[in-house]
Amino acid sequence: MSIEFKNVNYIYNQGTPFEYQGLKDISFNLTDGNFIAIIGHTGSGKSTLLQHFDALLKPTSGEIKLAGFDITSKTTNKNLKSLRKKVGIVFQFPENQLFAETILKDAMFGPLNFGMDADLAEKNAKKWLKRLGIKEELYEQSPFDLSGGQMRRVAIAGVLAYEPEILCLDEPAAGLDPVGRKEIMSIFKEYQKNGHTVILITHEMDDVAQYADDVLVLQQAKLIKHTTVADLFENPEWLAEHYLNQPHAARFAQTLKQNGFKLKQTPLTIEQLAKSISKKMREYNE
Ligand SMILES: Nc1ncnc2c1ncn2[C@@H]1O[C@H](COP(=O)(O)OP(=O)(O)OP(=O)(O)O)[C@@H](O)[C@H]1O
Ligand SMILES: [Mg+2]
Repeated sequence: MSIEFKNVNYIYNQGTPFEYQGLKDISFNLTDGNFIAIIGHTGSGKSTLLQHFDALLKPTSGEIKLAGFDITSKTTNKNLKSLRKKVGIVFQFPENQLFAETILKDAMFGPLNFGMDADLAEKNAKKWLKRLGIKEELYEQSPFDLSGGQMRRVAIAGVLAYEPEILCLDEPAAGLDPVGRKEIMSIFKEYQKNGHTVILITHEMDDVAQYADDVLVLQQAKLIKHTTVADLFENPEWLAEHYLNQPHAARFAQTLKQNGFKLKQTPLTIEQLAKSISKKMREYNE
């Protein structure tokens, strides 16, 4: 199975003076079980696109096939619950969506809402709160007494607690400290490796390089590239033309090259960079 978008257009406020085309003729096929990054500038349509994965927004025209569902402009809200059980979305600033009296109740809301029995819902909520680093003694406290970063973790645990087949994340690490960012990104990577699809919107090219398999690049509501991570970063000229950054490791390698020290392959992560440099140094010394 795969995730298929076919000629998807989306128009905000159609037929009003505020009409705005948020997506223009978007088509792609994604392989289930992959980690896919969606990148592009502010306002390029990333969040608009993501909200189509669980039919929060329905295409104005075109068709989406995923998780056994078919979403078009005619899709009614009737079967959406079973779709949303399979497709979990962590929205931009999810901490704003917390609402329950206690942290545990908040994390249990999703599983209960999707029909899990109370014992399992509690077990899952606790499992994911723990995995997200929320201490057990906090479970009965109000989520609103937490720090921003902790609130974010509770909101993420609440989506993971119903273990959706497809996990969609809208800049989940924005504003977290570097250690926190690495921690939650590793959780998403592990979730993918355990047999789920992960779709991540991010502005962090280091995260794209480190965690994603494939990338969708949006620009002004259009999909301008769908490719592998290695291919995307192999072409610094194209990235520069589209005002996109390379990962730090690739930029470092480029500076080395400008100074006469050329590595065979563009390293995408710090680990790859370190390995390439040590290999090259060994060659020099032989
Ligand atoms: N509810 C809405 N009504 C009208 N226009 C909207 C609405 N939501 C978004 N837009 C417009 O659609 C365009 C795409 O917005 P979107 O939020 O998808 O961008 P984005 O790529 O996620 O940006 P960012 O990186 O800032 O989160 C923007 O120009 C935005 O102003
Ligand atoms: Mg957005």
